[in-house]
This record gives sequence, C-alpha cells and structure tokens, in this order.
Amino acid sequence: MAHLLKLLVTLLCLALSCERGQAAAIELERVSSSEATRDWWQVAQFYQIYPRSFKDSNGDGIGDLQGIISKLDYLKELGVTATWLSPIFTSPMADFGYDIADFFDIQEEYGTLDDFDQLIAAANERGLKIILDFVPNHSSDENVWFQKSVRREKGYEDYYVWHDGYVNASTGARIPPSNWLQAFRGSAWEWNSQRGQYYLHQFAVKQPDLNYRNPAVVAQMKRVLTYWLDRGVAGFRIDAVPWCFEVLPDADGRYPDEPLSGYTQDPDDSAYLKHIYTQDQIETVDMVYQWRQLLDDYKRIHGGDTRVLMVETYSSLDYVMKFYGNRTTKGAQIPFNFQFIVGGEGNKNNTELSAYGFVKIINSWLGQMPADQTANWVMGNHDQRRVGSRYGEDRIDLMNMLQMFLPGVSITYQGEELGMTDGYISWEDTRDPAACNSNETIYQQFTRDPARTPMQWSSEANAGFSTNSSTWLPINPNYVTVNVAAETAADTSHLKLYKQLVDLRKSKTLQYGTTRYAAINENVVAIKRALSGQPTYVLVANVLNSHVCGVDVASELYSSGSYKIKLLNPQAKAAVGDSVALNNLSMPPYAALIVESV
Ligand code: GLC
Repeated sequence: MAHLLKLLVTLLCLALSCERGQAAAIELERVSSSEATRDWWQVAQFYQIYPRSFKDSNGDGIGDLQGIISKLDYLKELGVTATWLSPIFTSPMADFGYDIADFFDIQEEYGTLDDFDQLIAAANERGLKIILDFVPNHSSDENVWFQKSVRREKGYEDYYVWHDGYVNASTGARIPPSNWLQAFRGSAWEWNSQRGQYYLHQFAVKQPDLNYRNPAVVAQMKRVLTYWLDRGVAGFRIDAVPWCFEVLPDADGRYPDEPLSGYTQDPDDSAYLKHIYTQDQIETVDMVYQWRQLLDDYKRIHGGDTRVLMVETYSSLDYVMKFYGNRTTKGAQIPFNFQFIVGGEGNKNNTELSAYGFVKIINSWLGQMPADQTANWVMGNHDQRRVGSRYGEDRIDLMNMLQMFLPGVSITYQGEELGMTDGYISWEDTRDPAACNSNETIYQQFTRDPARTPMQWSSEANAGFSTNSSTWLPINPNYVTVNVAAETAADTSHLKLYKQLVDLRKSKTLQYGTTRYAAINENVVAIKRALSGQPTYVLVANVLNSHVCGVDVASELYSSGSYKIKLLNPQAKAAVGDSVALNNLSMPPYAALIVESV
C-alpha cells in the first residue's frame, strides 16, 4: 500500500513538472574575480548593528557603544569581518538617529567620542572593521546649521531648500510650493514662521533637507566624511541616497507638482505620487562618485585598506546600477541589492513565493549588474519586516543559506543569524515616526518598530539586552528560546547553521567559483558553485510547503558525479555526510541542502 502511494506521488510529481515545464538554467562565469585581484570587502561578512537595540551597557534600556564593544567577541566568533552601524551621532531621536543635530559628535545616551575611539581600537584588535551610517540628505532641525539658516546667517542662507510658497487668492490661505509628500505621510513642506518661508523635508518635519545645489553644503558633507575617516572608519553606508537632489525650479521659481501614481487613494501616503522630481536625479549619482573619489584619495594619502561605500536606494534597478560607476568613474562598491526585499510580493509577505519567484529575484540583480562588479545580498534591515516574518519561519535557514551561497558580498541584519522574528508592538508602544504620523487603525502598515526590538542574547530578564526594568522597545517574547545563549548550546540551531555557512563561504569555490542556477520546478531552486580543482557545491532548496520527489537537479546544473550532504536545515530530514543522487531527490517541505562533490 505504502509502495503504491509512493508511486502515485511520484507520478503526480512527474505530471506536474511536465505541465509547468522546466526553467532554463542561467550560467554566470564572470561574476567572480580571481584570488589575486580580490579586495577585502569582496569576501567580507558584513553585519548591520542597530545600536539602540544591540546591547545596553549602563542599564538605561537603550543600547550603546560600550554595549557594542562588549559584544565584539560575539561578532568575531560569528565570522563577521565588518559591521555597519546605524547612526550614533547627536540627535533628538525624532527618527532614531537619522535626524542628526551634530554630525561630528556622539549621541550622549550612546556614549562619547572617547567610547567611539575605544570601539575602533577594540575592533581593530580583533581584525573587525567599523563602517558608519552617513546621512547626507537631511539634518535635524536642531542642527546649528538649520538654526543659522532659519536666521539667514551669512553663508547659511541657502543651506536648506527654502521657498515662499503661495497664497490662495480667494481664501488668503498659505499654500506650499508643490504637492510633494514626505516619506512619513503628509506634505514635504513645513512653514517656518521665524524665517517666513517653507522648508523642504522629505522625511519627518524635524528632518529638513540639505540643499545639494549649494557648494558649501557639498563641501561640509565631505568634511563629515573626512572627520570620521580620520577616526579610523572603514567606510560608510550612505542613507536615503535617491533624495539628495530635487529638480531645479523653473524660471519663475516654481517646483513642478509630481503626478499621481495610482497605487493608493490615501493622499498622505508617499506612494500616492510618482517621485519623478524629488528622487533618483542624475546629479545624485555624480555626488556618490565624488564621495568615492574622496575615499580613494584618502587611501592614497593615508594608506590602509580600501574604504567602502554602501548605497541605500530602493529605486529602479537601472538607477541603482549607476551607483556602481561607469567606464571612467568609480562609484560605490556596494549599492545595496534589495531585490529580496522589494522583489517577489514585496516587503509584507513572500511566504508563498515559488522557486520561479526566487530565481527571478536572483536573476534581477545578477542579470543587470555590470560585468566587472561584485554582487551583494541584503535580506533585511532596520526598515523592513524580519526575514522570518516576511518569508516564513520555515524558510529562515533557507534564506541564510541562499544569502551565503550566492556569489558576492553577504550582509546580515542583527538577529537574523538567530532567526529573530517581528515583535508585536502596540500602538501605545509605537515609536517609529513612519507609524506615529498615522493612526491606531493603520499604523501596522507603516511601522518599522517590529524589526527593531532589542537583540536577544539570553533567556535572562530583558533577553540579556539590558538590566533596566523596561527597554526602549519591548522585547519579543520569543526570546526565551530564540537567543544567542540557547542557540549556542543547542546541537542544531539557526545560529549554528549560520556559523557553518560563514565558514563554507570562505572556501575557494564560494569565493571565486562560477555560478549556475535554476528553478527546477515550482518548488525547487538549485544553485551550483564550481571552481576547477576545488570541490563543487550545490544548494538545493524546496521553497514551498509540499513534498517533491524525483527531482532532477543534475541535468539542469550539469552536475553529474557523486555528492554528499555538507550542510542542511532540519526540514531536510537527512544527515551531514549522507550521499545524495542529484538526479533523483526527494525534498520534504522547505528542505534545504548544500551538497559537496566527492
Ligand atoms: C533611511 C533609513 C531610515 C530613515 C530614512 C531617513 O531609509 O534607513 O531608517 O528613516 O533613511 O533618514
């Protein structure tokens, strides 16, 4: 009977795979440069720290620099080689550090410049690099530059984007200069009664946009970069890049209205408009090239390793790819690849995404990236839902496996190595301006708090994050089992697999090998990494909640020969060292395997 059932399942599987046809595999010979020309960042393991939620050293419920220092050994042990920190600069925290009041100093609740120097020294001792968040588009309204600009002090008159706006002839009411919307709901223009003009803020009211048409601003922001390079940072993640430049006003000084997008009927939602005049301007690309030049010049003069730029932009791929540079000018080494965030069904829910969807996402980047550049893979960050919440908890290991196995730079957001998931945050506990600017009924659509809950270190009070009675955002109750201590002690865990993946990523094959990948059917993604004279590795993942059998990965990937399991997730229901037949695999729901040629 069991035999008959198995036969029926096999026949059904065969019928389904025939019906849908097989996706052609894609071979990439070019993506990996040779060992001799490799720079440190191309094989680095990057890790994003959200300092407010990483580790609290002084018991005030908020993470800080000494907290980070106390966890550098954890990062080292994890195999991280460079970490980028969300902003740590003086800030009234309207957008949790992305509203900077002093670009040259540290937020008091995070520590001091002395703590920062200690952090650099302690990181250097361990061979870890520190990368800072550079927020060029805006400052805080509490920044002295803005206050001087409000007062029209000499040299600061045009530091920000100011405009008179208009007056409605019949009602006498004041009207903003254009219909532009801020990212956090509502008009992007705010009236300043002291100066008697509107200022542009593409994010919160407390985040006025700097005016990049003013050379003094351009020079000032370059000073910011040099200041932190002098303090020993290894590069910068550049925040909100597409917003830096806006279109120039016309001859009458008018800014054009942006057209409606048709995506939403909610006129306060930034998605209501197509941002053709306020984002993705070509001048912004040149600005990034200038910053790259500054970093390269710095290295030429002061020596040391290459300093890197990571660019945050969710724009169209055509625009994103420009940040890599062109034939004559170098750009950022790492324009973030957000395809696993924006691709598929988008940020909210990708739990049903099929193998075809996964391969489409992979191919969107690898297919468009300039030939001589390095790919990168970002699965999540402090602005997005956690990977396990977006792709499903059954796919947590699978997603880490993909991230590490694909060619290029791997970037992990804190806690993803543990499989942390979104914390539930009530309206009362909501802190994110993107949500606070909405209301109790709709805030869940906009909030970024769920991915920002404190890091889960142990099953002690407050997940070992803080000794305070409360923390700035509530701890996710799943900390009791999802935490560093428990996952370190367990025989198998997300964390253990993550570490093994980091190790495997150091192999020559994964660093320099070619890549061939395919959706074998709706369920199965397969990726082969090969390098002459080295073991070949194949990742096979069943991304859906149904069992598939008789899966032939071998023909699509040209991977004949014998293979044994190197790494696997628990859903694979097999063991390390088991032999596998790549032309006839049986894959339980969400099973993921990395096999090695023997
Ligand atoms: C970036 C940051 C985000 C911040 C915004 C404004 O998207 O990642 O957290 O709110 O820029 O600075």
